[in-house]
Amino acid sequence: MSETPNNIRIFATCDIGREALDRLRERGYRVEVYDQLEPPPKSLIVEKVRSGIDGLITTLRDPIDREVFEAGKGTLKVVAQDAVGFDNINRADANEYKIPFTNTPDVLTEATAEFALFMLGAVARKLYPSERLVRENRWGAWHPYLPFLGDEVTGKTVGVMGMGRIGQAFIKKALGFDVNFLCHDSAFTPADFVNGVQEEMDLRHRNGFSRERRTIRMASLEEVLSASDFVSLHVPLVREGVQSTFRLINEKTLRLMKPTAFLINTSRGPVVDEAALAGALKERVIAGAALDVFEQEPLPPDSPLRAPELEDRVRLFHHFASAGRITRLSTDPDRGMAGRCVQSLIDVLDARGSLAHVPCVVNKEAFR
Ligand code: GLV
Repeated sequence: MSETPNNIRIFATCDIGREALDRLRERGYRVEVYDQLEPPPKSLIVEKVRSGIDGLITTLRDPIDREVFEAGKGTLKVVAQDAVGFDNINRADANEYKIPFTNTPDVLTEATAEFALFMLGAVARKLYPSERLVRENRWGAWHPYLPFLGDEVTGKTVGVMGMGRIGQAFIKKALGFDVNFLCHDSAFTPADFVNGVQEEMDLRHRNGFSRERRTIRMASLEEVLSASDFVSLHVPLVREGVQSTFRLINEKTLRLMKPTAFLINTSRGPVVDEAALAGALKERVIAGAALDVFEQEPLPPDSPLRAPELEDRVRLFHHFASAGRITRLSTDPDRGMAGRCVQSLIDVLDARGSLAHVPCVVNKEAFR
């Protein structure tokens, strides 16, 4: 059959945004959406792929591996992931079957970075215990330090693990809090960025916007952990190899942190060993944590992170960092994940020539 848009079939494992999906329909594609809250079972994804669809739209909830690619052998032309992270997609398997997959970089950088900063503030300044006190009518009287105090962010040292787009955006936003930064990235040193931030800090100091001169520099993992008051994680999840970030934060690395320090995670759950973190929080190895991502999502009811004695020191969110209205739903590929996802799918299907030049194809190496 010749490739007219009407022959092109897309299966979306989730309603990533109606208006964005309508862009595909407007092109004549036939779009089927698994319109449930829960993700579809893997067997359904395999069945749909085996039925000969051209494009598969996925979210981070869908395991996409050899079984799926085998089912799409000769027919599946693209997997378009509605997320910047793609640890649910087996890259080696995609490459073996020469099936391109795309992600949604850039559009969620600012939303995720600002949320990490808000999480940091929430756990440091005890926003949740304070509000609960008021709501539960336990606010006895104003007192200089009772029933509890929070920890200021201003003047502290913020450790940033992972200096990619989101790590850098987080630093740009946190700059106004007059903090010092210690940064670590096992893959690269963004020297121009670090120099630019230092210049900005110097300018703020010269103009009297910050009382003290603040600094930023790259540091070892050990130094970031041991010298920071807050450690914010912005690394991708890599499960194996020298770049592995799997359980980067574990019993041993937690012990490097200060007992007054806070851990912030907006990256991926498995970057943190949750049992070790819960233990460290209980033993007061660190002061607190704010988490938006978990080893298992939704967070299981029996997670040790839900322990009542940790409630005041642990903020838990529902993988919410990129969940700004525009960031999630805009049809504009430069602003929204849905728009970016759909555009990437179109770009791959329309591509003439090498896919290595199509923006947002992650596994470009398979097409060189
Ligand atoms: C969200 O977590 C994403 O990777 O897009």
